[in-house]
Amino acid sequence: MAYETEISKRKTFAIIAHPDAGKTTLTEKFLLFGGQIQTAGAVKSNKINKATTSDFMEIEKQRGISVATSVMTFGYRGKMVNILDTPGHKDFAEDTYRTLTAVDSVILVVDCVKGVEEQTERLMEVCRMRDTPVIIFVNKMDRDGKDPFDLLEELEGKLNIGVHPMSWPINGGRDFKGVYLLPTQSLNLFESTKTKLTDDVIKIEGLADNQLDSLLPSKDVAKLREDVELIDGVYGDLDKNDYLTGNIAPVFFGSALNNFGIQEMLDTFIEIAPNPKPRATSTRMVEPTETKFSGFIFKIHANLDPRHRDRIAFLRVCSGKFERNKNFKHIRLDKQFKFANPYMFMAQSKEVMDDAYPGDVVGLYDTGNFKIGDTLTEGEAFMFKGIPSFSPEIFKELINTDPMKSKQLEKGIEQLTDEGLASLFVQELGNRKFVGTVGELQFEVLQYRLEHEYGAKCRFEPRSIHKACWISGSEADLKDFMKYRQNNIAYDKDKNPVFLAETAFILKMAEDKYPDLTFHTTSEFKV
Ligand code: G4P
Repeated sequence: MAYETEISKRKTFAIIAHPDAGKTTLTEKFLLFGGQIQTAGAVKSNKINKATTSDFMEIEKQRGISVATSVMTFGYRGKMVNILDTPGHKDFAEDTYRTLTAVDSVILVVDCVKGVEEQTERLMEVCRMRDTPVIIFVNKMDRDGKDPFDLLEELEGKLNIGVHPMSWPINGGRDFKGVYLLPTQSLNLFESTKTKLTDDVIKIEGLADNQLDSLLPSKDVAKLREDVELIDGVYGDLDKNDYLTGNIAPVFFGSALNNFGIQEMLDTFIEIAPNPKPRATSTRMVEPTETKFSGFIFKIHANLDPRHRDRIAFLRVCSGKFERNKNFKHIRLDKQFKFANPYMFMAQSKEVMDDAYPGDVVGLYDTGNFKIGDTLTEGEAFMFKGIPSFSPEIFKELINTDPMKSKQLEKGIEQLTDEGLASLFVQELGNRKFVGTVGELQFEVLQYRLEHEYGAKCRFEPRSIHKACWISGSEADLKDFMKYRQNNIAYDKDKNPVFLAETAFILKMAEDKYPDLTFHTTSEFKV
């Protein structure tokens, strides 16, 4: 059936990395392979430059770039690949976490010089929570980096995932000769060129092949034989199931800048990466093959033009067919909506589309009806699960500095936090509003946008809050705890009570006093 063929073609994934590891470069090379772009340098980095953080319009402009590159679609070997972009700047990490809820797998880029960096660890934690299949690309092999065995150990140790080398580097840095492809026992020799599109893989009859000695210096051949013997002994063959369940990550070595080692990874990705997967909802699992449409909003992006307050909501299609001008039900608002100009993103441009299938991402114009996590269906009432909030790192209280504009401030902070720019916690007592973010930058953006888009003036006062904790346990305990810590309880956007613990010690004391309650730093937890 044509519909199922469409689903079996889709691969929707995100490339994640610590800033500067090479995500933009790799994305660009993928698009080159897919024939979507012809020249290198066409994909703009959506990195927000530290030097420009005081220039608000610059921030917005740079955030704007990330709209254009939010989803990039390309065809490769008969498949339709959707890459969902993730912001590089750590202050927008929450955006990245949300995007990870909309993909079926990820490619993680690691810089061979720096190894596993802080941001990589946090992103992987999110993948681990969701058992997302991961492929790892160790980049910049043309630079003097860490020993590959040490790197594998570091990946396993810090990322809490098993690894399985699929290619093996022959030296590194200036002496980088290429990689040995373990599954096909072939050799891909390195040439430093940014324009070469395909790798010329040399088929050899395993490492015993005498041809090797004419292709590589004898010391490299000896080392390669030794290394591969060790690898074969430890890792054996890759079990695809271990990858699909998120337990083992296949690892490739290469250089994105030199377009080296990418094709073999892309070919493996096309072969083993999952098609759109079933998704959990508040009532049941939804299979992508179901004919009735359903999907959820995972990202909202404000319009760059402050005179028009419309936004683009990004919808991930989970089942059935999304159609232009067809009525769909917005479950939270219990209201029908139809979309005259839904967008599909094609590499660098966006086009109005007529229909979309599971795995696809559709851009919907929104005038304030959507918030992150909203579900659209053909009528059935359920909400997609698994769009978590995480405890912010920095907390400030929102103080209104223009009492005549209270309503505007109220509406503005409500809508901007619906976009996922920051988390909002409201205390019942006195309606105090605490705003939490992962970086200082968001406060600047919030203050600027509240003033320019809503005409509201405010300031943010720092509050010493260590963590926001969602609480699970018996109702009686919870009630008792909330009474006991009344002054530190606030409600998130879904009206869940959250404990704003001032210090790690106070959190520990609460845990000791209420051993039957569990305190979670994310809103999504397995009870
Ligand atoms: P990001 O999106 O993950 O933040 O990283 P991006 O691709 O922008 O790459 C960061 C820097 O690393 C860039 O250099 C890029 O050229 C370089 N790079 C990427 N892949 C490789 C590689 O395989 N080898 C080497 N040696 N460098 C690589 P830049 O100087 O910051 O920017 P640019 O002026 O080159 O664009």
